[in-house]
Amino acid sequence: MHYFEYKHGRLFAESVDIRRIAEDVGTPFYLYSYATLRRHYEVFDTSFSKVDHLVCFSVKSNSNLAILRTFISLGSGMDVVSGGELFRALKAGADPSKIVFSGVGKTPQEMRYGLENRILLFNVESEQELYNLNQVSAELGLVAPVALRVNPDIDPQTHPYISTGLKKNKFGIQIEQSIEVYKKARALPNVDPVGVHCHIGSQLVEIAPFVDTLQRVVELIKTLRSLDIEIRYLDFGGGLGITYEEESPPQPKEYAEALVQEASGTGCVFILEPGRVLVGNAGILVTRVQYIKRSASKTFIIVDAAMNDCIRPSLYGSYQAIWPVTKRAGEPFRADVVGPICESGDFLAKDRLVASVEPGDLIAVMSTGAYGFSMSSNYNSRPRVAEVLVHGDSYSIIRSRETYQDLVRGESIPAFLA
Ligand code: LLP
Repeated sequence: MHYFEYKHGRLFAESVDIRRIAEDVGTPFYLYSYATLRRHYEVFDTSFSKVDHLVCFSVKSNSNLAILRTFISLGSGMDVVSGGELFRALKAGADPSKIVFSGVGKTPQEMRYGLENRILLFNVESEQELYNLNQVSAELGLVAPVALRVNPDIDPQTHPYISTGLKKNKFGIQIEQSIEVYKKARALPNVDPVGVHCHIGSQLVEIAPFVDTLQRVVELIKTLRSLDIEIRYLDFGGGLGITYEEESPPQPKEYAEALVQEASGTGCVFILEPGRVLVGNAGILVTRVQYIKRSASKTFIIVDAAMNDCIRPSLYGSYQAIWPVTKRAGEPFRADVVGPICESGDFLAKDRLVASVEPGDLIAVMSTGAYGFSMSSNYNSRPRVAEVLVHGDSYSIIRSRETYQDLVRGESIPAFLA
């Protein structure tokens, strides 16, 4: 669900007419609904009320400070995967004792940064990383709380680029191998193996892979306990899918119901790292139609947003619904919605039946709150777009549009070229 709705043929975000925002901030821009973010968080969090749990919002899905603050103020922790994300989480006011740090390639600097801030958990993905973390925490005279990220070899049945829990994926330590690594961790003085972590993929629309994964992890926890390795945290990652087109993923309540009994039986704190399910449908990308180009075989709607602003359709062939911001009379027509970038891979929708639009009209690329802005770039030297947060009948710019000057910040011409 979300709070983007038509009123008399005009698209509103909560109580704000989106046209008004476009006049004020220009296009393109990302637009988020506070009420939607809040509702998604609360529904997700309360679904797990039967188990001692901690929701750690996955910062990579949307790292704007205002979005992070929204979740932090509702009690959320943060799941980070880089020093930069940790910086953002802390700047937004996250409680370090609710921060988990994942990622296959943490550098010693990133480890130090996390240790100095006394974060809750390092999700370690390889034996070498474990030794490095032990070394860095020894240098600081600390003991790092560690979960090993285990790879359960379960097919999440999602896009191959966002599957992570198969043996062929680079993530985690094979679950059978992990027992030996836990024993090694226990023997190291400056790491404390207190958790198990897993994350099998993203945009999962079936519940079975989650249930199978949990069973394997629970078995592992039992085995570890029999070896006197006391596991207190079960970090189950993220991955719950959303409806982009016609998918019907489990609702958070069903997802939780399928997991809580098994999870609470472990006595562990159950950590969840949702990203997409909290922000995906809480954000849209608003763009303006520049031109409509028709030939005998094809029609192109050329808009002012492009693959650099929203790369999901180009990279994963993802479906993002296209809505007109103001409905107009006229027949829908089939077209590609494309941007101005010099690549044929630059599209937001392909071969899509689109409502009647004319040059100058605004359109909304729906369900782009997750992995939208956070994956945007400056390709073709396009300034990154503005981000706006609606709250009731008001809105705030939470990131201003970049300028041309921003594009060259940090660049310099060496003396020999001067
Ligand atoms: N935890 C870990 C360790 C992860 O790697 C991820 C996502 C999450 C949590 C959050 O997953 P979510 O709840 O959002 O599914 N750019 C892709 C998605 C990449 C996901 C990477 N990891 C996309 O646009 O579909």
